[in-house]
Amino acid sequence: MESAPVRLVMLGPPGAGKGTQGARFARQRGVPWISTGEILRQEVQAGTPIGRAAKVIMDAGRLIGDDIMIGIARDRLERQDAAQGFVLDGFPRSLPQAEALDTLVDDRSPLVVVDIEVPVETLITRLRARKICRNCGWNAAPGVEACAKCGGPLVQRSDDNIDVVRERLRIYERSTAPIVEYYRDRPTYRSVDGDQTLDAVAADIAAAVASVVGSRR
Ligand code: AP5
Ligand code: MG
Repeated sequence: MESAPVRLVMLGPPGAGKGTQGARFARQRGVPWISTGEILRQEVQAGTPIGRAAKVIMDAGRLIGDDIMIGIARDRLERQDAAQGFVLDGFPRSLPQAEALDTLVDDRSPLVVVDIEVPVETLITRLRARKICRNCGWNAAPGVEACAKCGGPLVQRSDDNIDVVRERLRIYERSTAPIVEYYRDRPTYRSVDGDQTLDAVAADIAAAVASVVGSRR
């Protein structure tokens, strides 16, 4: 018997583990992991007009405009593979985006909102240490020397230098943290301690989702 699809929104500041945990959860549930940051980085890599405009803003640690991001999210959520659930990572990131998301999803199953909380010093340590694959963007585990997916060289993400990290954290507090208040009173909102091992955080996220929609997909 199939139950309602899981529609998970991962909230959390830069470095909280949205991508790491979101991709893992999505893989386990067989639903797409939709990271707006990854979509933008692919546009940058491909040299599209959106990518060229976005790179300047991303490298400064600022946010891309709501209209563009809502359009990107709408196009992605309308694709067939998102009909049976999804994990959203990095969207919404502002109140207008959160309001738009509510209009983009129908009411067959609720949005489960998981907010990953991590102290700011840990975020800074993680982001300064992070390495990604220059070719495919794969997020490397600590100590790994080459991309496990394509063998490509590992580099620092272009927005992970300390000045840009601090700006991203400032922007998060100003523009994104308020959406926690937008969701907090919903019965489908959960907060998770992200300052634990990867497996412990994953287990807490799975338990949080199960407490909202049950443990089956
Ligand atoms: P985006 O790519 O979404 O970046 P972010 O929100 O800054 O988040 P990160 O990807 O840096 O962190 P994460 O939470 O995914 O953590 P991760 O799992 O990698 O957005 C980038 C830019 O795109 C934005 O700044 C903006 O310009 C633009 N953008 C994107 N979406 C937008 C939107 N909707 N509106 C406007 N603009 C938008 O983990 C971080 C590191 O920590 C990794 O190395 C990982 O291995 C490690 N780690 C994770 N968990 C643990 C753990 N439990 N223990 C130890 N290490 C851990
Ligand atoms: Mg990420």
